[in-house]
Amino acid sequence: MPRRSLPAHAARPAPPGPARPEAVPPVIRIRRLTKSYGHGDATVHALRGPYDPDTGAPLGVDLDIEQGDYVAVMGSSGSGKSTLMNILGCLDVPTGGRYLLDGIDVGHLDEQQLSLVRNRKIGFVFQSFNLVPRTTALAQVELPLAYAGVRAGERRRRALAALSLVGLAGRSGHRPNQLSGGQQQRVAVARALVTAPAMLLADEPTGNLDSRSTEEVLALIDGLNATGRTVVLITHEDEVARHAKRVLRLVDGVIVSDVRQAPVDGPPPAADRAEVPA
Ligand SMILES: Nc1ncnc2c1ncn2[C@@H]1O[C@H](COP(=O)(O)OP(=O)(O)O)[C@@H](O)[C@H]1O
Ligand SMILES: [Mg+2]
Repeated sequence: MPRRSLPAHAARPAPPGPARPEAVPPVIRIRRLTKSYGHGDATVHALRGPYDPDTGAPLGVDLDIEQGDYVAVMGSSGSGKSTLMNILGCLDVPTGGRYLLDGIDVGHLDEQQLSLVRNRKIGFVFQSFNLVPRTTALAQVELPLAYAGVRAGERRRRALAALSLVGLAGRSGHRPNQLSGGQQQRVAVARALVTAPAMLLADEPTGNLDSRSTEEVLALIDGLNATGRTVVLITHEDEVARHAKRVLRLVDGVIVSDVRQAPVDGPPPAADRAEVPA
């Protein structure tokens, strides 16, 4: 008897291992995505995917990222990593193709709706920290909550909790120029996580850090993934990419390899070594 004629409650027994509802759509779904800069002969196809063998036109990039995954995007300088991250983070719009974030077609949103999506769903960490000068760590971390309309008392409570999660409870009154690079990036991680976003996007988050601070920041990111957050991390360093569950390689705007290092369900590969720095 064909399976589809069975009543719903007579479905196959659950497979062994952790339950994974098959209905969970990918948090990121991009199709035939392209991004170019400039015009005519000066056009740079920053993201293009393979060329159509018949017409020579760029076919665009296809990519799905599942909820809870930890993806490292690698590639040499100019390969399109930041372009991809800016589009994933709704900081920039593609030239062509579609991007669905949590099922929402962000191509159809206006600037105000996009900023709402950024604030609600995404936490950003950048290579250069992007902290506000002359502003205390506490105020930096409160900022996204202020944009989200959270009341002052609640803002302070959540910002302090985020700062203690990154090991900086004792530095809440410090300004960026009173903090080391590693501490500044930990403030930036606290700012990224304080809104409890579903996804963390990090563009070369350890690019300006020494090796000890790199390990501290990666341990925090590993911990965020271990507690269910989707992470997309851009790097050109193998040591950093080792932390991810999946590694994509970009060359000239094309994803040329896609390697799974660890299952989506389960801890990130380096989580056994991960601990929140004091
Ligand atoms: N705003 C821009 N205007 C023109 N060209 C750009 C712009 N941003 C990026 N590019 C070009 O797009 C390509 C990919 O850049 P980028 O995504 O920054 O690479 P990566 O982050 O991998 O170093 C490069 O050739 C770069 O010069
Ligand atoms: Mg870049």
